[in-house]
Amino acid sequence: MVSAAGALAAPAAAAASVAGRAAAEEVPVPVPAPEPAPVPAPGIVKPLPAEWFVRRGTNAEMRWDAFRDADGAAVVGRHVPVERFFVRNHTATPSIDADTWTLKLFGSGLRGAPTAQDPVEIGLDDLRALPSTRISALIECAGNARSYYLSQQDQPVPGTPWTLGGVGSAGWRGVRLADLLRAAGLTGAAVDVLPTGLDPDYVVGGTNYGPVRRPLPIAKALDDVLVAYEMNGAPLTPDHGAPARLVVPGWVGIASIKWVGSIEVADHPLHSPWNTDFYRMFGPDYPPGGGVPLTDQVVKCAFELAAGARLAAGRGHRLYGRAWSGAAAVRRVEVSTDGGRTWRRADLRDEPRADDWTRWSVDWRPEGPGRYELRARATDRRGNGQPERALFNREGYLFGAVVAHPVTVV
Ligand code: MTE
Repeated sequence: MVSAAGALAAPAAAAASVAGRAAAEEVPVPVPAPEPAPVPAPGIVKPLPAEWFVRRGTNAEMRWDAFRDADGAAVVGRHVPVERFFVRNHTATPSIDADTWTLKLFGSGLRGAPTAQDPVEIGLDDLRALPSTRISALIECAGNARSYYLSQQDQPVPGTPWTLGGVGSAGWRGVRLADLLRAAGLTGAAVDVLPTGLDPDYVVGGTNYGPVRRPLPIAKALDDVLVAYEMNGAPLTPDHGAPARLVVPGWVGIASIKWVGSIEVADHPLHSPWNTDFYRMFGPDYPPGGGVPLTDQVVKCAFELAAGARLAAGRGHRLYGRAWSGAAAVRRVEVSTDGGRTWRRADLRDEPRADDWTRWSVDWRPEGPGRYELRARATDRRGNGQPERALFNREGYLFGAVVAHPVTVV
């Protein structure tokens, strides 16, 4: 057992306050998107009502139009409630007994090089007894918005055809991975850590890739990664990683391993299919062997409105949305209501923060009935923006281009 709680430095208390800013003056009346075909999402435990989710194989995509009620008033604050949060499962949500669960730490980067057979173990009560901290962080799938490679760029890509709902922001409580590793005997020789999930092995096309696991460089592991046991103030639920998961702020969602059962700490680089075969860029614009393993998420923007929404003619509307970037806080959001010909600044409704998305709004009075193409684009404080076209990659990761959002004014 790790029992070095007293030896740990006090954590920096990161406040994660959520100021839900409800209320709308004039709002578009969202019209639900056509009902998707009822594809099963096997292995997800929580209910997936069709008004909140689109089921995609083993995953559940969050619907942006569900952020507002039928009158257009906000029903979701800065953080997404757990029951509405998207789910990305390679296989199925496992059922783990929190009373007997332990996190096993081992490897050549720990003092005494404990082995996988004789690891340093920590149970949930021990984890909760360590100094904890609370952060806001987005979890976003690397394939979020993938479907636009085909629909906007005519580039077919395999994989889950997410629109923009493979993302969510939440408040997380847990122990800094840095504190945990130090308590377990981290040495200066550590190079990589490899968290492994307790969900069933990932098997596709007759190949068993083993349990979901992805190496993390020690620099990121010691920077801002959390071993989280609470989401939005309550214990983690099964679908989101109970009893404990990693939260890796700003990085592609695969880094945030759910149901973490072990963490190898090595004095040499570690590999798994999740940093060799998957979650890297392959294609004509990347090196022959593929790009480096993906880290930061790109800049994105979304309207809190159904694609194809119908808005009333002859009156003003307030359009709402959110913008985010894995690399930095959002600096500005611009909106076009004429398919990208002209742009104007949106009002930012949150103090932009690097660890969360920023809500925005813009007022619009359509000239008359007809079809319009809305667009929103953001720029972050490092100057990262959104191009007209995303650079193609074979797996359709990191679609960061501006997304066209059709509406009809009637
Ligand atoms: N961890 C395990 N063990 N198994 C998984 O399938 N999916 C990853 C990550 N962690 C996954 C995992 C991916 S690709 C994403 S985007 C996030 O979990 C999704 O987290 P969520 O389901 O809580 O939204």
